[in-house]
Amino acid sequence: MDDNLSTGQIGGDLGVAKALLDAGQLVGIPTETVYGLAANALDPDAVLRIFQVKNRPTFDPLIVHTDSLEKIGAFVTHIPDVTRRLAEVVWPGPLTILLPRQNIIPDLVTAGLSTVAVRIPAHPLTLALLQSLAFPLAAPSANPFGYISPTTAQHVADQLGQQVPYILDGGPAQIGIESTIVGFAADETLTVFRLGGLSVETLEAIVGQPIRVQTHSTDNPAAPGMLSSHYAPRKGLTLLPNPELMDTSSILAERRDIAASGALVFQQLLPNIPPTQQRILSLTGNLAEAAKNLFRLLRELDTLPIDHIYAQPVPNFGLGRAINDRLARASYQ
Ligand code: TXA
Ligand code: MG
Repeated sequence: MDDNLSTGQIGGDLGVAKALLDAGQLVGIPTETVYGLAANALDPDAVLRIFQVKNRPTFDPLIVHTDSLEKIGAFVTHIPDVTRRLAEVVWPGPLTILLPRQNIIPDLVTAGLSTVAVRIPAHPLTLALLQSLAFPLAAPSANPFGYISPTTAQHVADQLGQQVPYILDGGPAQIGIESTIVGFAADETLTVFRLGGLSVETLEAIVGQPIRVQTHSTDNPAAPGMLSSHYAPRKGLTLLPNPELMDTSSILAERRDIAASGALVFQQLLPNIPPTQQRILSLTGNLAEAAKNLFRLLRELDTLPIDHIYAQPVPNFGLGRAINDRLARASYQ
């Protein structure tokens, strides 16, 4: 079907998206965090296409998206009380929960793990799409593996358009950074495995106790989702040592030509780099605004005629922790 549909089309037609997904094809979908590359999560052939199009290693499992807690009952064996409470408060929202899987979820989705990652995203178009479908959607971020996640439909078309027939346009992602992932460690402690669009402080307020954060960096992860190098621009990126450092001349003198450098800064321009080669995350120092702008501005810097990017860390609390995590992984060589 749809042989006449040219690839990489952007539009707002739920009927087109549903027909493609029903036929086992891929569709770009908007969420409040980042855009996803979606396929029928119960169809291994469709899921395999996701890995091929993203050039993603199959040891890195996918998140299953659905639109109701009731539907999740068919994919998981049970939902522990503390995670049920989180789900009830946060969903639809930027939280992914690792839960014990049922066999209906293909091995390819979970990379053979005994848990499945599930999430109800907060975007009206995608929720309506999920309601209309007879199956949940497996959807990683819609970027080539390792590259910056997309926060607009155009970002998806630019990078994967040749291989994706349709991208549902839901406007710019409101949060701009991927969902926070929680699950249980081997000792059954509730643990954050990926910092993301829901802050640790907010999670702790909901569950009423401190939560362990365990986002290891490794090149050969024992648990997936923790690759050191990720979210990276094509250009080299150096993370500055601290948010307060404003005079970068010593660092620049060591390494490169100022004229060929750019910078991603938090609130104000650095004095040593040409202003047109800098991007400001949030003039007012608002971390939610910074998160929303992060990937778009990194992409902009990546297309400028510069050969290196300096990034200033942001204050390390709230969404700032997730932003700093992304910058650190983007800088990893
Ligand atoms: O905000 C988001 O979560 C976006 C939107 C599209 O929903 N999706 C997203 O998917 O960021 P992706 O594939 O780029 O990242 C999913 C992460 C991966 O790091 C993967 O290793 C981890 O979730 N993951 C998935 N299933 C897992 C599991 N069973 N155990 C541990 N980690 C898992
Ligand atoms: Mg991703």
